[in-house]
Amino acid sequence: MKLSPSILAADFAVLGACCRTVLDAGADMIHYDVMDGHFVENLSFGLPVLQSLDKALPDAVFDVHLMITNPRRYVKAFAEAGADWITFHVEAEDSIPDTIRAIRTAGCKVGLSCSPDTPVEAMLPWLSQIDLALVMGVQPGQGRQTFLPESERKIAAIRAERDRLGLALEISVDGGVNLATTGPLCKAAGADILVSGSAVFNAPDVAVAVRAFRAL
Ligand code: DX5
Ligand code: ZN
Repeated sequence: MKLSPSILAADFAVLGACCRTVLDAGADMIHYDVMDGHFVENLSFGLPVLQSLDKALPDAVFDVHLMITNPRRYVKAFAEAGADWITFHVEAEDSIPDTIRAIRTAGCKVGLSCSPDTPVEAMLPWLSQIDLALVMGVQPGQGRQTFLPESERKIAAIRAERDRLGLALEISVDGGVNLATTGPLCKAAGADILVSGSAVFNAPDVAVAVRAFRAL
């Protein structure tokens, strides 16, 4: 199982070291949650923090999750700051095809996400044009929430459509993913990548948690 630890749950005073720890333990990428106070209520971090992390960890793959309105406006800047994957939301009120094109033009892999209240049907028409479908397991905007069980059905629906069309995109799930119950459930539903914040960074031993996730 691939793992993308969400550094929203890391200690921001030692963010570079937190990234190093999870990558050394085998994490496949770093999940970077951007919040703008509009699309979601919270604010997190933006371009300069990514620039610094990318400089400190040039080999790391940054999986940037834009929980922002007007994502297209920021695509180029995030790509230049070090993003490798850029995921935006179908609810973000930006042109989906134009944003997909902007991400590709910027040289990044394209991710599309939907929030829990959005029917999975909103994602399906775009699957052939994206590299990553990110299913939210919780309402976007904060960590440490409880996984919403309906998300399992969404993962399965995207997996079925991917298989039906013979596509290569990856399916990831973000929010409320833990080792004991919801991680295995998401895997069984068809997810390829698990995004996890608190279950990684709040674990008694972060490296042990990373290895356990990858062994699921
Ligand atoms: C939620 C974020 C998630 C979050 C996951 O808005 O997109 O990436 O950090 O945190 P946990 O794993 O604690 O639910
Ligand atoms: Zn996220």
